[in-house]
Amino acid sequence: MTMAGNKRELEPGGLTAGKKIPRHVAIIMDGNGRWAKKRYLPRIAGHRAGMKTMRKIVEFANEIGVGILSLYAFSTENWKRPPREVDFLMRLPEEYLQRELPLLIEKNIVVSIMGEPAGLPARTQKAIDTALEKTRGNTGMILNFAFNYGGRTEIIHAVKTLCSEIVYGHLHVDEITEDMFGKYLYSGGMPDPDLLIRPSGELRISNFLLWQLAYTELWFTDVLWPDFEKEHFWEAVLEYQQRERRFGGVSKF
Ligand code: FPP
Repeated sequence: MTMAGNKRELEPGGLTAGKKIPRHVAIIMDGNGRWAKKRYLPRIAGHRAGMKTMRKIVEFANEIGVGILSLYAFSTENWKRPPREVDFLMRLPEEYLQRELPLLIEKNIVVSIMGEPAGLPARTQKAIDTALEKTRGNTGMILNFAFNYGGRTEIIHAVKTLCSEIVYGHLHVDEITEDMFGKYLYSGGMPDPDLLIRPSGELRISNFLLWQLAYTELWFTDVLWPDFEKEHFWEAVLEYQQRERRFGGVSKF
């Protein structure tokens, strides 16, 4: 389906056309560095442009009725990048929230975080804590940042917590179920993503939501994240609506 063909459906009101909007969308915001390189700009210019895209997509996801938007913003592996780039990325939550928090509050959005807060600079932690606190009472879309996040670290963290519950006699091994395990993850029992979007042409998961993506529909595009527009998001949603999700079962038709 062409984007031009979908134009009319992007108008508010015509959005859902009776079809399901994915409840939980996860995005790997990739391609900032390549976007900058193509323009002979430093990598951080790519991240700044990526943040602009993020603002647009948060607003659009909220507008069309997505329930949870999970954004991969900084992985546990990203510490390997040059210190200047890491410093810049660490400052982005503060910059973003300083500017956007009033709007997030007005839009009834709940800010949430997955990852290890320990190890983040104090200013970054403070900005995140303020956003969590100020939006805690909201009831709208959950804007869930994966920051200092790694899927394997998340699983190990859950296993360690479960083991200590067993050691202290609060839990018996036989009581462990998939549902219960999910509650020990950073995502704390949120519904799993229905749709994963990865821009920039890479066809991999990159240690993102390893447990939660078990039955998620995957959608890839060559578009680099700073060039990603709400039309691309909508294209992914439309394709998602055509997919038949069988969860290991058989077709209903
Ligand atoms: C991956 O692109 C992107 C990141 C590591 C950072 C993504 C962060 C943002 C878009 C903004 C985050 C903002 C807040 C408020 C948390 P890359 O650098 O790996 O791109 P490349 O593969 O082209 O080099």
